[in-house]
Amino acid sequence: MTSAVTQTYLELKNFPDISPEAFEVIRRIMKNACGVNLDSYKDKCIKRRIALRVRATNCITAEEYCDLLLRDEEEVDRLLKVLTIHVSQFFRNPPMFEKLRQEIFPFLFTLPEINVTGGLTVWSVGCASGEEPYTVALLLRHFFASELGRIGATILATDVDAAILEAAREGIFGEERLVEVSAELRRKYFVQRDGRYQVVPEIKSLVEFRQADLGHLDTFPECDLILCRNVFIYFERSQQEAILHGFADKLHPGGVLILGKSESLVGDVRSRFQTICPVERIYRRV
Ligand SMILES: C[S@@+](CC[C@H](N)C(=O)[O-])C[C@H]1O[C@@H](n2cnc3c(N)ncnc32)[C@H](O)[C@@H]1O
Repeated sequence: MTSAVTQTYLELKNFPDISPEAFEVIRRIMKNACGVNLDSYKDKCIKRRIALRVRATNCITAEEYCDLLLRDEEEVDRLLKVLTIHVSQFFRNPPMFEKLRQEIFPFLFTLPEINVTGGLTVWSVGCASGEEPYTVALLLRHFFASELGRIGATILATDVDAAILEAAREGIFGEERLVEVSAELRRKYFVQRDGRYQVVPEIKSLVEFRQADLGHLDTFPECDLILCRNVFIYFERSQQEAILHGFADKLHPGGVLILGKSESLVGDVRSRFQTICPVERIYRRV
């Protein structure tokens, strides 16, 4: 009998090969159709996901799959979805959000810069269906209402995938996305409909969703807090370094960067940040 591990190995081994020529065609199609630049993505990771679609569409070769992509817009959408995984959750990694509430926000609200720039600016990068920026909005509304009224805050949430941003704007979530949300926050900031939960307008209005590719450094906004969690998995190390320098350029002095639990600063950009909490990957721009 074949074990699950052996089965997975065999499946991976039998993935159709993506030739450089086919990859180049797919790269161009995705660039023209969705504005997504695959150059900065990890080749191995991307090719494995493309191969999944080649198989799922019953194409024998990657070249045949290119022909399909050229004539079927829906397949372009499906491929984009596979390339950009959207797993997220409210209060994903709760200890990090606890630190944000207890230490980071109180510190950020004292920065002289935010009084000049018209309030605290938060940027949630690779926000998927909005759980992360909405969690930030919940924290600010619930625990920092007076600072919010006095100083103000803007939460900008960006993702490369326009379709997932539509879902984020709707703000309707299944129970599984809310497991870390307390009963009190659920009661105050969500409306229950058919077993699902919609974020109330008071929270929605704090978040602005915008489509943007992290590969385009020139589009980065100036801000005080950046959350870029579980997005670097897609990028080559050199690209990660360029993005991190982009973050350092745009963060106001004293501004804070938060990465995903298994991500870290790479290369000489480390000298531009001071580590505040190594466990929760929280860094302050020096
Ligand atoms: C796993 S989700 C992370 C969601 C959230 N940050 C969290 O940690 O729960 C990764 C997101 O990164 C987005 N992404 C991938 N490549 C991107 C790019 N080049 N620019 C912006 N977002 C990107 C994907 O579309 C996806 O929604």
